[in-house]
Amino acid sequence: MNLTGGITWHCLAWRSQARWAPTSQAIEQWLLTHAQVFKPEGVMGQPSLLLIGASAGWMMSSTWLQQFARVDTFDIDPLAATLFKWRHGAALKAHGVEVHCHTQDALADLPNLLAAFPKACVFFDNVLGQLRFQSPAAQWQQVEKKLLQIRKQLQGREWGSVHDRMSGPVNDAINLNDPLPLRQASWNDQQWLTQLNAQSPWLDHLTHSVLPTRETQADSNHVAVQDFAWNFSARYRHWLQAGWVRP
Ligand SMILES: C[S@@+](CC[C@H](N)C(=O)[O-])C[C@H]1O[C@@H](n2cnc3c(N)ncnc32)[C@H](O)[C@@H]1O
Repeated sequence: MNLTGGITWHCLAWRSQARWAPTSQAIEQWLLTHAQVFKPEGVMGQPSLLLIGASAGWMMSSTWLQQFARVDTFDIDPLAATLFKWRHGAALKAHGVEVHCHTQDALADLPNLLAAFPKACVFFDNVLGQLRFQSPAAQWQQVEKKLLQIRKQLQGREWGSVHDRMSGPVNDAINLNDPLPLRQASWNDQQWLTQLNAQSPWLDHLTHSVLPTRETQADSNHVAVQDFAWNFSARYRHWLQAGWVRP
């Protein structure tokens, strides 16, 4: 059973488009500003992308994908390929982007994929924070180890991810037109959680080591990291983290 995708995800994402739109737009703006490919050497000198956990790309920006000559999507959900093409196919085709959709466990197969596409960039689209749901809760250390292993496998690549950092209930109901909380650069995590109106306890998605932290970003030219609020429902919010890493 797919606990993080499949028909339940598609129905929820379809119904929640208006509520999730401010977060999708904020991520799109961030991608367009901070995740422009640095070394375009994929297909005939044009960059290519492996998009992992793509699903139908409910929160993915077609505009950002248009910088690539070729996009290969990967999801374990057999519905994902058809729905991704339905949502993004026409816009990508209009810009000459070649799209190939694969039904595959791209996390288990990551070393093979990296070998098969040696010059492609990689983007994990809201999938790394879901790993903890695919193992018993008591095995959280193995999940952290797996995430570190993924990060190591990507050494030398241009890659990025958007993933859950934490999530949980909020103190007051969130209205559809409430402004999206924005993180100020000087805030620590506790101040950010206060801004998110987090009602303790929040779930840790175990992704704290996937990207360099603000404190350990040695060279900001090589890594861009940004936090986002995601109003998942009227009573439940996620803290998403996005990053783009240049070798
Ligand atoms: C939270 S959903 C996000 C979907 C998508 N990024 C979007 O915006 O609609 C997580 C997705 O990751 C997929 N997934 C989970 N584990 C995976 C794996 N090992 N390989 C590929 N996809 C995976 C799930 O099937 C699901 O579609």
